[in-house]
Amino acid sequence: MRLTIVERRVPASDHVELLLDASGLGRRPEPGQFLHVATGGTLRRPLSFSRVDDGRVGILFRVVGAGTAWLAGRAVGEDLDVMGPLGRGFPPPPPGPLALVGGGVGIPPLFFYAQCWPDASLAVLLGARDREALVMVDDFGARGLHPALCTDDGSFGRRGRVTDLLATWLSAHPHGSVMACGPAPMLHEVARLTTDAHCPAWLGFEQRMGCGVGACLACVVPGAPGAGRTWYRVCTDGPVFAREMLYGEAPP
Ligand SMILES: Cc1cc2nc3c(=O)[nH]c(=O)nc-3n(C[C@H](O)[C@H](O)[C@H](O)COP(=O)(O)OP(=O)(O)OC[C@H]3O[C@@H](n4cnc5c(N)ncnc54)[C@H](O)[C@@H]3O)c2cc1C
Ligand code: FES
Repeated sequence: MRLTIVERRVPASDHVELLLDASGLGRRPEPGQFLHVATGGTLRRPLSFSRVDDGRVGILFRVVGAGTAWLAGRAVGEDLDVMGPLGRGFPPPPPGPLALVGGGVGIPPLFFYAQCWPDASLAVLLGARDREALVMVDDFGARGLHPALCTDDGSFGRRGRVTDLLATWLSAHPHGSVMACGPAPMLHEVARLTTDAHCPAWLGFEQRMGCGVGACLACVVPGAPGAGRTWYRVCTDGPVFAREMLYGEAPP
């Protein structure tokens, strides 16, 4: 389908958010689902929904290569060729305290989650390499949430990793749950911490993809070790997985 760009924002250097007219979208996306976007070359690029409002959907991305550079060059009024919403998103908030843990470009789908559950009481823990890459902090503020922040270089918030913030939160909320999205090393550490704390966790992966619809197997990841180990396709079985699907009951 083709969706028209109705607004273009630059939330930080090297980051662009495009708001698209959602009237051509077959159904309302769920947080954690993604759009598979044609970017001028052969392969589409997967991008999470960053928000839904006033009949528009957002994608917020960091420019890292040819595909995202092509997208960043698009203007209001142009159409994008997209497939979606694709994949399985995050579940509704479970009972009890809930933390959203976002790293870098893993932050946008978690803002969309907070937007979808306006009455949920949420802790928001965000981390990025530096101040510039810490996106959507003001959007969380407008939703009435005050994220705990950290950066690798200490340029904003606490110096350190977002998993340091999570370790502190888990010790204060022994019956809490976690929804996380970010780079694979961050998600591995979230899996380890939440397993140790006996807290449920759902993890949103940003694996490289090909077809986006389960046909090419470019995105497979191994399921939890053990009898009958399976392989999961991140595009259709994920990109959001309950932790135990990938890590089992033992800490990674
Ligand atoms: C389900 C899903 C949701 C995503 N949501 C977002 C989002 O909301 N915002 C966002 O900025 N990005 C998101 N990504 C990542 C995004 O798809 C890639 O950054 C994009 O495909 C890069 O395309 P490119 O052509 O610009 O870069 P390429 O030329 O393909 O790659 C440039 C550099 O980035 C690295 N790279 C490319 N893709 C990935 C990846 N998936 N993970 C780690 N490194 C990668 C390459 O190894 C290379 O070093 C998501 C990925 C998935 C699977
Ligand atoms: S990207 Fe083709 S099977 Fe997942």
